[in-house]
Amino acid sequence: MKTVVSGIRSTGNLHLGNYFGAIKNFINMQDAYNCFFFIADYHSLTTHPTPEHLNQQVKQVLAEYLACGIDPEKSTIFIQSDIPEIPELYLLMNMNAYLGELERTTSFKDKARKNPENVNAGLLTYPVLMAADIIIHKANFVPVGKDQEQNLEMARKFARRFNRMYKVDTFPTPQPFTFDGADMVKIPGLDGSGKMGKSEGNAICLYDDPKLIRKKVMKAVTDAGPTEMNQQKPEVIQNLFSLMSVVSTPDTVQHFDDLYNKCEIRYGDMKKQLAEDIVNFTSPIRDRIIDIMEDDAYLGKVAKLGAEKARESAAKTVQEVRSIIGFRKFY
Ligand code: TRP
Repeated sequence: MKTVVSGIRSTGNLHLGNYFGAIKNFINMQDAYNCFFFIADYHSLTTHPTPEHLNQQVKQVLAEYLACGIDPEKSTIFIQSDIPEIPELYLLMNMNAYLGELERTTSFKDKARKNPENVNAGLLTYPVLMAADIIIHKANFVPVGKDQEQNLEMARKFARRFNRMYKVDTFPTPQPFTFDGADMVKIPGLDGSGKMGKSEGNAICLYDDPKLIRKKVMKAVTDAGPTEMNQQKPEVIQNLFSLMSVVSTPDTVQHFDDLYNKCEIRYGDMKKQLAEDIVNFTSPIRDRIIDIMEDDAYLGKVAKLGAEKARESAAKTVQEVRSIIGFRKFY
């Protein structure tokens, strides 16, 4: 069985874009692959969160993934900082990662430009830590969005470099896993253009309460309405229809599509329906998030099980790597 490793940023609540863009696919992958899902809490230190915030965020993200249907029995779901072998492999990999190539990555340059007062070494070596996360489980696949392609390319490079340097084939070259099946839906934001994103401020979170969801949907950008029968929809309107296509029944989408084509659509009605269908979709997930967040015993059990499974796999790799490098015990 092929191995998949996916790192989850421990910042921000999950939104509909995350769900339909990735998580829904993760749920379906659990039977066909040996899946490792982990919360990248070491990576979040590059932005200096407070201890309370860091802890709260990790808990929330863990609860959200479980609420969506990641199954801790089928997959290995764990917290990065529970695995001491990851920083160990990170240290070893840092010796073969060069300043020039790290400085040239776009995400490093972006972050350095945006926060010139906090250009820390962790930010520079972020791709090395990410490579360690991936290769420590000898991953074959890593699901990545556009923004992570370069980081994965670095991981591939470091894996191949190690193999070449020591003339071994310890690490498979991790391939990007792209969901180009029928299920891949790009979820637009509510502000008229672009995709849904936490930082764009146009997202509906799975954890949003019904009142907030209704408010956000009713504020979505629209236009003055169609003026010709069967005219092509401008992007802002197509976005509403795209959102509707993932949460509403095909009949409902058809109904508003017909009204649009006849120039009889009232966006207010469409938004009301869309808001209710989003609420119906997210409410059970939200209820589960709340239940899980209150169940520290369950969260503890899940985190412990995940840590045990992940450490077993990680320790095996690190032992192999140490021996290859020349760290062989004298006692
Ligand atoms: N850098 C990824 C992000 O920002 C998170 C991440 C950390 C990751 N380690 C990883 C993703 C390993 C995939 C594999 O989204």
